[in-house]
Amino acid sequence: MKVLVTGGAGFIGSHTVDLLLEKGYEVRVLDSLEPPVHPDKEKPDYLPDDVEFILGDVRNKGDVEKALQGIDYIFHLAAYQGYLIDFSKFAFTNDGGTALIYEAIVEKKLPVKKIILGSSQSVYGEGKYRCARHGIRYPFPRSLEQLERGDWELKCPTCQQPMQPLPTDESRASPHNQYAVSKYCQELYALTLGKRFGIPTVVLRYSITQGPRQSFYNAYSGILRIFATRLLHNLPPIIYEDGEQLRDYVYVGDVVVANILAMESETANYEVYNIGGSEILSVSEYAKLVSNVMGKNVTPRVPGEFRFGDVRHIISDISKIKKLGWQPQTSVEQVAREYIDWARKQPEVSDYYAEAEKVMKQEGVLKAVRS
Ligand SMILES: NC(=O)c1ccc[n+]([C@@H]2O[C@H](COP(=O)([O-])OP(=O)(O)OC[C@H]3O[C@@H](n4cnc5c(N)ncnc54)[C@H](O)[C@@H]3O)[C@@H](O)[C@H]2O)c1
Repeated sequence: MKVLVTGGAGFIGSHTVDLLLEKGYEVRVLDSLEPPVHPDKEKPDYLPDDVEFILGDVRNKGDVEKALQGIDYIFHLAAYQGYLIDFSKFAFTNDGGTALIYEAIVEKKLPVKKIILGSSQSVYGEGKYRCARHGIRYPFPRSLEQLERGDWELKCPTCQQPMQPLPTDESRASPHNQYAVSKYCQELYALTLGKRFGIPTVVLRYSITQGPRQSFYNAYSGILRIFATRLLHNLPPIIYEDGEQLRDYVYVGDVVVANILAMESETANYEVYNIGGSEILSVSEYAKLVSNVMGKNVTPRVPGEFRFGDVRHIISDISKIKKLGWQPQTSVEQVAREYIDWARKQPEVSDYYAEAEKVMKQEGVLKAVRS
């Protein structure tokens, strides 16, 4: 059986490749080695030699058709991610690339057995909340005016009282930023075209995924890499808002086990699953954990800034995938230890965050509270 992994030179993709090889699958990777993940445009050393590598772009029909020849299963993990204001690039890469894969399969009548799409928890926007008086609510994003006041919590749209964040299940998506919109559109293309043309498709919505190989160069997202690289330079982690934002975190090794399960299980066909962690931590608690693991006594900086487009709290409800036989095995602390051990062995780890911060400010993504 031959498996194509788009974005297989990246973080989740390369770990997926490793597990596929371990399980005896033949693997092909299609990856355009995009900066900032691959700044030197070189195939990363961690990609094993027995993987067939195609340097190509999911937006290019010729590259996609070449990559699909003789393929049984596809993990579609190539994506443009981040916070910057090049909105169209999110759509061209994430949605255009997904549509092109289905187009090539349908046009050429390729006997692909299944496509597993790596989507994101971000499709929920602010997710699910409970108002003590009005019950379950799926709030709209916070306005710029609210954020500029430093008023962080979501309020009930009816009574304006603060609400309690709840684990969000798969039933309702409400993307709030360009990345999330592009991920949700990807899902719609994949599931709609998959069902219509009988190409089994599974959508996996990953929570914040952590672990070795998460590139330092992309300092726009990835809380562990940002905090760890700052602390490696004895610089304080920078916390947006007030640090009380709640998140769940999942280990990349657990994510790839879910990937293979989705590929091998018939029950998963045409389903959407959250792949998340079992520990919920605030951003401040997470910064403290990373500092402790690194043995650093550095107090985080809370400069009164926020990223416009960030959600306040988001926690995935993972009961659906648990019924399929998966659950996260690795603690947040174990993951931080493993990542930091790996980071310390890397030849050069600059403070890439400083540049990312500058760009986010220039583009008006990172904003300050009005005093
Ligand atoms: N890492 C996370 O926390 C997380 C969370 C939720 C969802 N996801 C999703 O999981 C998938 C994998 O994410 P990751 O963290 O491994 O990302 P990554 O940036 O480490 O890897 C993505 C890979 O895709 C390649 N790529 C980008 N654009 C391409 C294009 N046009 N054509 C071909 N290759 C291209 C890049 O070169 C890179 O190797 C993505 O779809 C992402 O949206 C990731």
